Amino acid sequence: MKNITQGLLVSCVAFSGISATGTQEQESAPKAGMRPQDRTVLAQRKQQHGVDPLFVTRTSPRAMSGEPITKEQLYTLFEAARWAPSSYNDQPWVFIYALRGTPEWQTLFNLLVDFNQQWVKNAGALVVIVSRNAFEKSGKPNATHSFDTGAAWENLSLQGHISGLVIHGMAGFDYERAKKDLTIPDGYTVEAMFVVGKPGSLEQLPQEMRGMEKPSDRKPIEDFAFKGSFGKK
Ligand SMILES: Cc1cc2nc3c(=O)[nH]c(=O)nc-3n(C[C@H](O)[C@H](O)[C@H](O)COP(=O)(O)O)c2cc1C
Repeated sequence: MKNITQGLLVSCVAFSGISATGTQEQESAPKAGMRPQDRTVLAQRKQQHGVDPLFVTRTSPRAMSGEPITKEQLYTLFEAARWAPSSYNDQPWVFIYALRGTPEWQTLFNLLVDFNQQWVKNAGALVVIVSRNAFEKSGKPNATHSFDTGAAWENLSLQGHISGLVIHGMAGFDYERAKKDLTIPDGYTVEAMFVVGKPGSLEQLPQEMRGMEKPSDRKPIEDFAFKGSFGKK
């Protein structure tokens, strides 16, 4: 808990525009007690401006052990999602889950494209992310329902990372079938799916997926942060 609080404090400093070390070019230093796998990712991902390692060390692995995930573990993730900000505090997110070994598992698993089924078979839980299109109180259209639900998902994903779990988002599934098979009412949007799992070894992945299991890079800030008008550096 202390580590997370410290991390959030450092994040606040970083987001204020002043890096934690007082320099704009400083890469994140590994923290005392950091997990070996996080140190490896931190060393491989080029980062600047004193961003907290929490954000940089989160990845989307595919290798999972096949061990189950408990409802309590899942609820820790949903609790992180619950505290996300949203327009008018409307909280438009909905999560439909299935734990490995339960009757619901196959229904959610069957939604996935072949590529995803090949590695998701070792997950411990499967979740479909849905959002409500209109505000609960007024019934008026909510322009930010997907945005808010994305914020909740990212909270969840970072909590999963802190808890040492694999969290991997997916768009590779049948959206229409999800609406039908999961009896999602009109007025709700199917956003994405994700898996929750215990980390596994490379050998648990099909041969052709093993090379993908390395940290991805990102565009530079100058490609997406513009001064005053679109495209202006
Ligand atoms: C909404 C969303 C959909 C995604 N869909 C898939 C997918 O269907 N299959 C897959 O293997 N990875 C999928 N990914 C994982 C992305 O490819 C991954 O997040 C991206 O390459 C960045 O890598 P990182 O998360 O390790 O930093 C998805 C991620 C998100 C957020």
